[in-house]
Amino acid sequence: MPDKMRVVSGIQPTGGLHLGNLLGAILRWVRMQDEAQCLFFLADLHALTVDVDPKELAANVREMAAALIASGIDPARSILFQQSAIPAHSELAWILQGTARWGWVNRMTQWKDKAGKNREGSSVGLFTYPVLQAADILLYKATHVPVGEDQKQHVELTRDIAIKFNTDFDVDLFVPPEPFIGGGTAARVMSLRDGRSKMSKTDPSEMSRIHLTDSNDEIAQKIRKAKTDPDPLPADPAGLDGRPEAKNLVGIYGAVTGESVEQVLGRFAGQGFGAFKPALAEVLVGLLQPLRGRLDEFRRDPAELDRLLADGSARAAELGAPTLAEAYRAVGLPR
Ligand code: TYM
Repeated sequence: MPDKMRVVSGIQPTGGLHLGNLLGAILRWVRMQDEAQCLFFLADLHALTVDVDPKELAANVREMAAALIASGIDPARSILFQQSAIPAHSELAWILQGTARWGWVNRMTQWKDKAGKNREGSSVGLFTYPVLQAADILLYKATHVPVGEDQKQHVELTRDIAIKFNTDFDVDLFVPPEPFIGGGTAARVMSLRDGRSKMSKTDPSEMSRIHLTDSNDEIAQKIRKAKTDPDPLPADPAGLDGRPEAKNLVGIYGAVTGESVEQVLGRFAGQGFGAFKPALAEVLVGLLQPLRGRLDEFRRDPAELDRLLADGSARAAELGAPTLAEAYRAVGLPR
């Protein structure tokens, strides 16, 4: 076991960064840079599991890299890289396909959600996607994987794959990682149109999510139009039970300001959404406006972004190479 904490996490470079990604994962990645050795990557191979527009993919990778740096990921302190630049991810994923059980993967709720009624027409990659995710994590012997609640099951599957591989081949190679989920409602930021489904880049309604690139007016408008109920905010968190939209907005407020749900309600109890929504829009603008400004700066210099990513990929490749070689040796394929 590595004695040091090592953090690995990824994000798909599609659809731009939204508030769910930011509160559920990225801002926690930023904080973890002070505590651990961190590797963060653009999961572009994962993006191939659904329809791809080849012209857009490369641009999306740069755009997401710029968004991560603008949000506070520091490529000097953390290793920031592009998954497809490192063939070891794909190679290890194939080795692990021999370890992962069909039944385990078939239980993944994200596969069920994404394939929906169209399982037969879904790509094979969409089904085996969590095995590639396991390879991403195990290649670097991550101890902690900061993700939103929706990815917890994939990290638990990674643990099962690590333990089975070590047992089957009688090695002490893979480190079973811990999912690291944020507290409060940041772990699961919900759609602004429906408090029962998560905020997601695939939701057809633009009004359901807030993007890092939204203007201050767009942010205010999306919050103003967010679905709510007619009741005032309660004094006690239990009073939010059965009110998913109210709970979501209070949770977002607390995740942005760093306050607990109790503290937020302490200030707004008895007030209606007519008062709460402008206050929420204000704290969101306060969070997002400076990040957006920095994003514009990085966008202007794609060559510098490419250089930073190439540097990160070289460092990641070096860290992962010994693990892949040991995995080959463990299964009897000398390296
Ligand atoms: P992705 O690209 O869908 O999301 C990136 C991160 O954002 C979190 N997230 C949310 N958190 C709270 N509320 C939401 N509404 C919300 N929406 C997204 C996700 O949990 C995630 O942490 N499979 C991963 C990418 C991946 C990965 C990995 C992650 C590939 N390999 C290895 C960790 C380790 C994904 O599609 O995330």
